[in-house]
Amino acid sequence: MNANAKSVTPPIGESERPARTAAVIPAAGRGVRLGPGAPKALRPLSGTPMLVHAVRAMAGSRAVSLVVVVAPPDGADEVQRLLDAYPLTGTTEVVVVPGGETRQESVRLGLAAVPDGVTTVLVHDAARPLVPVDTVDAVVAAVRDGSPAVVPALPVTDTVKRVEPRTGDRAGEPEPVVGTPDRAVLRAVQTPQGFDRATLAAAHEKIVLEGDGATDDAGMVERMGVEVVVVPGHEEAFKVTRPLDLVLAEAVLARRRKNDGF
Ligand code: CTP
Ligand code: MG
Repeated sequence: MNANAKSVTPPIGESERPARTAAVIPAAGRGVRLGPGAPKALRPLSGTPMLVHAVRAMAGSRAVSLVVVVAPPDGADEVQRLLDAYPLTGTTEVVVVPGGETRQESVRLGLAAVPDGVTTVLVHDAARPLVPVDTVDAVVAAVRDGSPAVVPALPVTDTVKRVEPRTGDRAGEPEPVVGTPDRAVLRAVQTPQGFDRATLAAAHEKIVLEGDGATDDAGMVERMGVEVVVVPGHEEAFKVTRPLDLVLAEAVLARRRKNDGF
């Protein structure tokens, strides 16, 4: 791991100073649960594509010097044009690469575009466009302090049951409850998840999951036996998944505009 990296000052000239922290934004999903329409990441929130909000959220952290956007497999040119229409104000570089069929594959492809010299990688869902910069900074800080894998998370507010799912012919039947985990030990995880770059790369090399793949990068790191830690998440880092989430996102943006006005 890179726990000692901070104490080493590499002799690097100004012009070749490498990017130290990069954010990979998987944005290649269709957004099936959001209903018919454009790919989820391209849908507008307060007139601006969700993806642009997400890119700004990452670039808003002073630590992040590169953002890798993972576009739908056949949509990299369209996403590149879209991002060109919303230039960033700071110095953060943005690159676009085509993604894959699953989120795990998309993250792997994004990670492959991260240049040498980057030691910390954030993975952030385009579908969490409103994460506050303080949350991003807290994740980066925890990785730089030596944790190889850091996840922002919130306590679970609903009581959660384990059930025996009824699928196929039996879908829709009442599902038997098989347990109720103690809510006090549960956390709902968000993104950006932050990683020591080598740890995340090793997880994506070694962990192969069937079907839909991993929906959570930290889960892959856990499977390698590496410790993952949780830092406080934020309610505005919620994932836009279903139509009601769009209503909430618009309300959050309206509140921010109102607060900015005073
Ligand atoms: N994602 C991706 N590549 C895929 C699938 C998902 O990059 N093949 C990204 C999505 O674009 C999203 C993030 O992973 O930013 C979280 O996934 P999710 O919220 O499930 O988005 P979708 O897969 O687009 O939505 P749905 O599952 O409803 O289709
Ligand atoms: Mg999905």
